[in-house]
Amino acid sequence: MPDHAAHADLKKAALAVRENAYAPYSNFPVGAALRTPEGEVFTGCNVENVAYPEGTCAEAGAIAAMVATGGREVAEIFVIADAPHPVTPCGGCRQKLAEFTRAEARIVMSTLEGRELVMTMAELLPGAFNTTHLERT
Ligand code: THU
Repeated sequence: MPDHAAHADLKKAALAVRENAYAPYSNFPVGAALRTPEGEVFTGCNVENVAYPEGTCAEAGAIAAMVATGGREVAEIFVIADAPHPVTPCGGCRQKLAEFTRAEARIVMSTLEGRELVMTMAELLPGAFNTTHLERT
């Protein structure tokens, strides 16, 4: 299967949820759709706030939707925005994604025009803080 066909459903879902983004301050709506290993799809959009730091990213929304139904693993995630080049998740969202992904999980970033960038979780957040750091010596 060609790469783009493999995540056509995620792209469709991410585009649809992006329409619901609440981004009156940045005017930068973002949509995200993730798939669990069981094949379930969850979506999220950015939700901004007049107190700017309280805004949340699309990725965080999709993760929260998954966790709320008992999901615990992201096999793949597709993120889309109207940008000149694919929007990479912010640092905080990389850490949030790392919590629920394996190193080889696919992170697909896309522009509205269809430019796509595919990276693995490990490529996106090398040296992630993880549970091994919590172990005492
Ligand atoms: N944003 C996301 O939702 N996901 C990303 O991957 C990058 C940035 C949001 C946060 C904020 O609402 C807006 O995009 C502009 O930074």
